[in-house]
Amino acid sequence: MVYINDNFTRLPETYLFSEIAKRVQAFKNEHPEAQIIRMGIGDVTLPLPKTVIEAMHKAVDEMATGATFKGYGPEQGYSFLIDKIIEHDYKALGVELATNEVFVSDGAKSDTGNIGDILSKDNIIAVTDPVYPVYIDTNVMGGRAGELLTNGKWSNIVYLPCTAENGFIPSLPTEKVSVVYLCFPNNPTGTTLTKSQLKEWVDYAIANKVLLLFDAAYEAFITEKDVPHSIYEIEGAKQVAIEFRSYSKTAGFTGTRCSYTVVPKECKGYLKTGESVSMNPLWNRRQTTKFNGTPYIIQRGAEAIYTEEGKKEVQDMINHYMENARIIRTSLQQAGYETYGGINAPYIWLKVPKGYTSWSFFDKLLTEKHIVTTPGVGFGPSGEGYIRLTAFGSKTQTIEAMTRITS
Ligand code: MLT
Repeated sequence: MVYINDNFTRLPETYLFSEIAKRVQAFKNEHPEAQIIRMGIGDVTLPLPKTVIEAMHKAVDEMATGATFKGYGPEQGYSFLIDKIIEHDYKALGVELATNEVFVSDGAKSDTGNIGDILSKDNIIAVTDPVYPVYIDTNVMGGRAGELLTNGKWSNIVYLPCTAENGFIPSLPTEKVSVVYLCFPNNPTGTTLTKSQLKEWVDYAIANKVLLLFDAAYEAFITEKDVPHSIYEIEGAKQVAIEFRSYSKTAGFTGTRCSYTVVPKECKGYLKTGESVSMNPLWNRRQTTKFNGTPYIIQRGAEAIYTEEGKKEVQDMINHYMENARIIRTSLQQAGYETYGGINAPYIWLKVPKGYTSWSFFDKLLTEKHIVTTPGVGFGPSGEGYIRLTAFGSKTQTIEAMTRITS
């Protein structure tokens, strides 16, 4: 008899964004004429930058001849890309990294999910609430979450509420935890931590031997000065933090898949005996065993965004999305809605009007205005009473959506 990983049976039947897609499809089937505007899943709409496409074309041609053909690459990523990451994304911030501390991969979603492979089942996990559902669902799969309670929380997960009342700043846990997921700029609320607020987390993690899993997938959207782009800008963070970055939203790679994870050699975990172990070789072992590397063609494309031309094209893309974010924010605020985010992130977190829940306002916008959003409660209990809008559409559609909502 084959036994399954019964943790899967504890999960809600569908992943949040699959559930939304299902509801939108059902509505579309009944109303094929509806001009639906998608502001739900954070998927980019602009094509890949020209320099990226050219680099990928060149790489495709290299695959066509024996002399330049590439088979398996290094599981950790090609050094041509890793060197650029270290120089442009970290040295520029005053952060030194060694080549073998950067692991190129196929998405921050995969890496934030897979990181659980190197962590004991006995860790107590803390998450900010609302939260990117991957952190929770993968810990359910890994047997660390316990049971789903009627209040929407998992019994073994520690929730750190982020609401308008606390300015979306999570408090340090009051109970003992081992691992904390932090995503800043935040998905879904679009809010950030300042350097001094993040420093409190790093100091806490050092003092308590806690691991911080820092998801910086949206760092390229930061516009304000005092907001850290990397957790390693904070002194001591290398001892306690793993950082995840992604090219998906930054440079339009949601379909082509490329990201990287930094695991500093200084970052330690512990055996039950209390002996410390560097996380870096564990992640390397995990990746070399389960992952054969991001495709060469894709990594060449990612490398191209570090050229002068590539940087400019990427910045233009980000400016385009952030202009949409501004339009969403200001239109909704002028119409009397309470909104957060949208200044350092492509997400706007909207308080639903009195009398609505996240899902009922989601349904209203879908059925009456033909706009797809994401119900806040899908990101966790503290997301109830909010919806999330993304700025990843075209400007015309963004303006049209705002006219529909505010009219
Ligand atoms: C989101 O909408 O939250 C993201 O697109 C999901 C993801 O990056 O996987």
